[in-house]
Amino acid sequence: MTANSLRVLNPQSAWAAEDSAAPGAEKKKTKLVPVVRTSYLPERDADKTPILECIDLGISFGGLKAVDNFNLALGRTEIAGLIGPNGAGKTTIFNLLTKVYQPTHGTILLDGKDIAYSSTEQVNRAGIARTFQNIRLFHNQSVLDNVLIGLHNEMHYTMAEAVLRMPRYWKAEKVARERAMEYLSLFHLEEHADEPAGSLPYGAQRRLEIARALATNPSLLLLDEPAAGMNPSETAELMENIVRIRDTFQIAILLIEHDMNLVMNICEGIAVLNFGRIIAKGTPDDIRANPAVIEAYLGRKGAQKL
Ligand SMILES: Nc1ncnc2c1ncn2[C@@H]1O[C@H](COP(=O)(O)OP(=O)(O)OP(=O)(O)O)[C@@H](O)[C@H]1O
Ligand SMILES: [Mg+2]
Repeated sequence: MTANSLRVLNPQSAWAAEDSAAPGAEKKKTKLVPVVRTSYLPERDADKTPILECIDLGISFGGLKAVDNFNLALGRTEIAGLIGPNGAGKTTIFNLLTKVYQPTHGTILLDGKDIAYSSTEQVNRAGIARTFQNIRLFHNQSVLDNVLIGLHNEMHYTMAEAVLRMPRYWKAEKVARERAMEYLSLFHLEEHADEPAGSLPYGAQRRLEIARALATNPSLLLLDEPAAGMNPSETAELMENIVRIRDTFQIAILLIEHDMNLVMNICEGIAVLNFGRIIAKGTPDDIRANPAVIEAYLGRKGAQKL
């Protein structure tokens, strides 16, 4: 199912179908296989162009190499994790991928195409959507309006049609509102549609940010610490939601997270960053067993957590 077919489906029932298979279903282990350059992809994505490829990517701020020699490929339906201590360069990588920052060196290929000369907006239209470490919503606007902003890319009418309130404008608006409500219902937010976004509890604001990002119809969703500030039951629900988003929309998800339980449970591939450089890449089992990760990043306490 794609985002475009969402309109004709009752999302609750679409997700319920997967729910019924979930209890007791054995968790399938992902096999990563070598592909382009030094990267690995889940076996099922390996025969297709990676949705994202970073080649020797780097950026310096003054004398600080915030990201250096960053190489990564992401499968088209992969859930991958980017972890590392505070200040390791994780958010900077998201800022590079979304062209908030221009890399000092290296290449980013989105679906095989170089985005060197694309703006943030063009990259979003080309398929990358993100959420932010510090939630960025329009707090005074309604929950529904926040998602409608995400849908804006897909609304087709001219300025004249909007100003004159012509039929094509009303039709596009109506379809957009229906779709926005469907995205809200995926995250159990439909009852709050008319409330100001800023009045939602913290966990719900994080869900709304994901709904808005998803409304731009991405092929790659970047989540920057989606579980930050969530309680354990919200985190458990988020974990299910992330997997369901991937299964429902068949997109890739790259997430930055400090919650190791979440990362180890749902990520197929994990890259560990320390001082701007990747120190380990692999499956959760590889990462758990990697001495460099245990020593350089997690220390003894961290090793116990894993
Ligand atoms: N615009 C900037 N100007 C100067 N230095 C920057 C800038 N953006 C990031 N940095 C520096 O780059 C390094 C990496 O920062 P970044 O925010 O990417 O870390 P992070 O891995 O996301 O950390 P955290 O887990 O705390 O969010 C830090 O030393 C930070 O101070
Ligand atoms: Mg960060």
